[in-house]
Formats: sequence, C-alpha cells, structure tokens
Amino acid sequence: MVEFRLPENSRIRPGKVHKTPGAAKPRTFRIYRFEPDSNENPRVDSFEVDLKGCGPMVLDALIHIKGTIDSSLTFRRSCREGICGSCAMNIDGMNRLACTTSLEDLGPKIAIYPLPHMPVVKDLVPDLTNFYAQYASVKPWLQTRTPPPPDRERLQSKEDQEKIDRPAACILCACCSTACPSYWWNSERFLGPAALLASYRWIIDSRDEATGERLDELEDPFRLYRCHTIMNCTDVCPKDLNPAKAIAEIKKMMVERQS
Ligand code: SF4
Ligand code: SF4
Ligand code: FES
Repeated sequence: MVEFRLPENSRIRPGKVHKTPGAAKPRTFRIYRFEPDSNENPRVDSFEVDLKGCGPMVLDALIHIKGTIDSSLTFRRSCREGICGSCAMNIDGMNRLACTTSLEDLGPKIAIYPLPHMPVVKDLVPDLTNFYAQYASVKPWLQTRTPPPPDRERLQSKEDQEKIDRPAACILCACCSTACPSYWWNSERFLGPAALLASYRWIIDSRDEATGERLDELEDPFRLYRCHTIMNCTDVCPKDLNPAKAIAEIKKMMVERQS
C-alpha cells in the first residue's frame, strides 16, 4: 500500500500535551488542531490515552478523547461501521476511515490529520464543498429519454446489475480523491477519482440513456484526462473499489467511440 507522509509543515506549531498518569494501557495520539476563529496557525496536540475500557478502533479513541479529555476536539462521524464515509481522515500517513481502522494495526504513536490538500473547517473536518459539487456535476442519477414500461419498473438483467454493483458501493468518503496527486494540484478542474467512478457507474448502467452526453461532458483535458494512472485512489479505497480501473474504462470508451 502507498503511504502518504504529510511533510513537516513549518506553519504547524507544537500544541498542548495531555498526559494520563497511571494509565494501564497508554497510547499517544498526535492530532491536528485548527481553530478557524482564533487567527492562529494550526497546531498538533498530543494526547496520552488510557485505552483500557476504550473500544478497539481509532474512532473509539477519538470519541474517548472528546468525552474525557478535550470536548472541543472536532471530527465527523455517524454510522461507526464504514457505511456513511464521514469519518475519513489521514491516520498514520494514510487516508482511512477512523471507524474501521483498528488501533492494533497502528504504531505506539498515532498521527491523525484531516484529509490532505483540502481546506479545513475545524480540526479533522475538511471542507468537501468542491468534492460534492464535482459529484453532483456528473449527474449521478438515471437519465432516460424513452417512457418507462406502463406496467413495471425499468428492469435490467442480473449480469447488467452486477456490472454496477461495485461502483455503486462508493460511500463518497473522499479518501481516494484526496490521495490523488493530480487532484491535489488540479482539484478545481480535474473531477477526481470519486466523481469519475460515479460517472462510470451511470455510463455503464444498461437503463441509462444519456451515455453519449455523459462522455461528452468528460471530453476535456482536465476533467478526465488529468488522471495519470498513478493508482493511489484504488490503493486507499476503504471499500476495495477500483476508481483507477473505472477511469481507464472511460478513457477506453472515449477512444472506441472515435474509431
Ligand atoms: S489513478 Fe488517476 S485518479 Fe487515481 S490516483 Fe492516480 S491519477 Fe488520481
Ligand atoms: S471510491 Fe472508495 S475511496 Fe473513493 S469515495 Fe468511494 S468509497 Fe471512498
Ligand atoms: S462513521 Fe460512518 S464510515 Fe466511519
């Protein structure tokens, strides 16, 4: 797996150190903190946590820190089972879901940062406005031109359904797009792997009747072609999806329709 070490950022200042004397099962978390209203640079706080009685996942530790040490620590989470995608963050140099990352698999000092190269709202919460706008821009819904059958839904074969089964399992966590170097440098113009995977999911849907328009929309030097097949997106996806392959398939369709 590819790891992403955030460079030591000179703008990040040393933060507070929280000790837990007499901890039976101590573990140290170094956590990025940013207060948007403080006019101060971000800092990294160090929390020594007694994991005795704490759940086994990184999200359990964050909830423990928020509940017992520093209630101002801010992060997103909802489902706690890898379904909602909201707890994505950079943990020990890799984009992951905090709720499905076991503390057992990490070292003694755990570094937690927000998803890389995104504006930060507060602490571990990235601003995903552009990411969601790009997702919406691929029109991630069924588009049809013909009327539906009068007596039933628009059906598709089991084989056709299986083609969209995996791409449709994306939880929009943004781990992939924020691990993509092309997206880091061109996030305003390159759609990024998550939005392109969503586009692919509808392009290959046998019921959709806007395939040509969808491909036309992607025929652009930046929106699609800024992908250089580096594969970081696929390496980090917590749902084992393959956005890099989906992007390659879209590029292939572009070539085929011109020949
Ligand atoms: S394969 Fe494409 S989208 Fe995925 S990380 Fe590489 S450049 Fe980004
Ligand atoms: S493709 Fe994977 S990493 Fe990317 S947004 Fe979807 S679930 Fe997250
Ligand atoms: S809390 Fe929903 S994916 Fe982690």
